Amino acid sequence: MRGEVSVSGAKNAVLPILAATLLTDEPCLIRGVPNLRDSATMLKILRAIGKNAEFDKGVAAVSKNKHTSFIADYKLVSTMRASFCVLGPLIAKLKKAKVSLPGGCVIGIRPVDLHLKGIKALGADISIESGYVVAKTKQLKGNHMYLGGIFGSSVLATDNVMMAATLAKGKTIIESAACEPEVVDLAEFLIKMGAKIKGHGTPVIEIEGVKELHGATHTVIPDRIEAGTFMIAALITAGDITIKNVFYQHLGGVIDKLEEAGAYIIKTDHSVRVCRKTRIKPVNVTTLPYPGFPTDMQAQIMSLMSITRGISVITEKIYPDRFMHVAELNRMGARIQREGPHAIVEGIKKLSGAPVMASDLRASASLVLAGLVASDKTSIHRIYHLERGYENLEMKMQKLGARIWREKE
Ligand code: EPU
Repeated sequence: MRGEVSVSGAKNAVLPILAATLLTDEPCLIRGVPNLRDSATMLKILRAIGKNAEFDKGVAAVSKNKHTSFIADYKLVSTMRASFCVLGPLIAKLKKAKVSLPGGCVIGIRPVDLHLKGIKALGADISIESGYVVAKTKQLKGNHMYLGGIFGSSVLATDNVMMAATLAKGKTIIESAACEPEVVDLAEFLIKMGAKIKGHGTPVIEIEGVKELHGATHTVIPDRIEAGTFMIAALITAGDITIKNVFYQHLGGVIDKLEEAGAYIIKTDHSVRVCRKTRIKPVNVTTLPYPGFPTDMQAQIMSLMSITRGISVITEKIYPDRFMHVAELNRMGARIQREGPHAIVEGIKKLSGAPVMASDLRASASLVLAGLVASDKTSIHRIYHLERGYENLEMKMQKLGARIWREKE
């Protein structure tokens, strides 16, 4: 695959940013919103809670509506876990919230204990009633808390608590906060709304509560995982792709691993060019919180390793069960063996096309990457997973020379 491709706004930044608009009655304008199923779900939730939420050509305009609700319904929350991050804004703004527990997820158990620990530490009373988290408070109060769990920091728990703390009385300190660029982007948006936040991007975030927040305009950061997926597309197809609208600084862990594998990467301010000048070598990969190698790139690098001669060991430290793609890649001839949180990949010469099943968003991306280089045709079913997180993937890939198209199931 050859040519240029432009990356869309980051899904995992835009979802909490849209939720943050609940913290004000004033209008907000968010630019760079990717046209994804998940963005649409979050806009639906905002409407259900009492906002006007319009979306046109990458711009979401959110403003107050007549009615206001404090309930996020099971039907919507169960389709997208990120909707749980309306809890923080609702409890902070309305002093009450009833948000459905998200339930299970194919990549792991994904509990919400850290979200609840943080919101409780700010003084909310929390009970679980019929599958809903019911939170009440007279006034949230700032507190000093540690938000680390057994798998490290939590992105959405940090988002949730940071949002709630913006309107709490006094100072909040979150220790073991997530440092992901998406958390930083949310903090930047909150600061534009009038929040007082320091330390975002480090494991200690300080928030000085304010009385109210106002409307703001913000442009979402580029999606580092989409960028990383195109980087692997360049390498797996022995191509040469220039990826635009990228902050390469957000891709440190990925670039480091790909260079170790033999990638040739040229970074400029807002783009990266990726090709290979030597054969790709097997590398061992361990997923870690930012700035480590992201779990959201684990499946994609596994596809690359599956056709890289030699043995590589891929260790998943964020979601130890995020391996649904292994069986599907093996259906395409890959030799991957799972042992607990490790996948041992014995690279083969060529994958063979097959009908395969997408199980989650990044697993779908790994199957697309594998399909690009497999002999014959690969048909990927349940691609609605892909639509949750990649904007116009097949069009972008077609432009780069891939033979990929959409068929009705
Ligand atoms: N965890 C807990 N308790 C909690 C919350 C999390 O034990 O209360 C655990 C999780 O089970 C996991 C670890 O902590 O083992 C980290 O999970 P985290 O909370 O950081 O994940 P998340 O915030 O729910 C976001 C992204 C995911 C991404 C992870 C890790 C969004 C909308 N989602 O999820 O993105 O994998 O961070 O970076 O931001 C994706 O885009 O495909 C995706 C799954």
